[in-house]
Amino acid sequence: MSDTYKKLEKVYEGKAKKVFKTDTDGVYIVEYKDDATAGNGAKKGVIQGKGEVNNRVTNHLMKLLEGRGVPTHFIMELSGTETAVRSVQIVPLEVIVRNIAAGSLAARLGLPEGTKLRSTVLEYCYKDDAQGDPMVNEYHIAAMGWAGEAELKTIAELSFKVNDILGGHLKNAGIELIDFKLEFGRLPDGRIVLADEISPDTCRFWDAKTGEKLDKDRFRRDLGGVEDAYREVMRRLLGQD
Ligand code: TMP
Repeated sequence: MSDTYKKLEKVYEGKAKKVFKTDTDGVYIVEYKDDATAGNGAKKGVIQGKGEVNNRVTNHLMKLLEGRGVPTHFIMELSGTETAVRSVQIVPLEVIVRNIAAGSLAARLGLPEGTKLRSTVLEYCYKDDAQGDPMVNEYHIAAMGWAGEAELKTIAELSFKVNDILGGHLKNAGIELIDFKLEFGRLPDGRIVLADEISPDTCRFWDAKTGEKLDKDRFRRDLGGVEDAYREVMRRLLGQD
């Protein structure tokens, strides 16, 4: 643990992360957990080492994106499982970007998983566990005031840009980016930044050669080798175990 920011009281604990106040205004510490859930909490377990993989992989990708002009909440990595981030007001949307049909899209449209999409699909879900994170569109978002028109335009543009940058970067590591989920937040001055995490918990990563799943679907679908898959993603991206 770095002495740069003093960790104060916990302000939030979710399924996979805890968030702490710090002694610095506008800075929070995120701590990643090994706890795993799927199906909106219906399935629970522990993936040994997941907290560290998700922390390190997220930070690696956030730094890459910052360097390519995508504003993020990332400040600095503090330890294997802890990171300092800028405090933001989270926009209550899960933004899902899809390159290849899988998961709920494949189920909804009756497509075999792995079906190539002619163009990138963007979906929004309203972040509300009690409602099961329902899918919504631009009209719902405007009607409910979850994001302004200009904010949503920024969110969509940034999401496509993230897809381009990550897709190329992962391909170099032998990983195909099937789909992923992003969350955005507002800084005090109103600027939209990328927040939350980008990890095997929130993306579908398939081995580019074999198609082997290297993400949370191994846990969701009881495929085994969950810890090894998470480690493998970290090894390929950061070159470390
Ligand atoms: P889906 O196919 O189940 O809708 O998931 C699409 C992508 O979004 C997949 O990469 C997993 C990610 N995701 C999350 O990170 N959190 C969620 O709550 C859901 C439903 C999906």
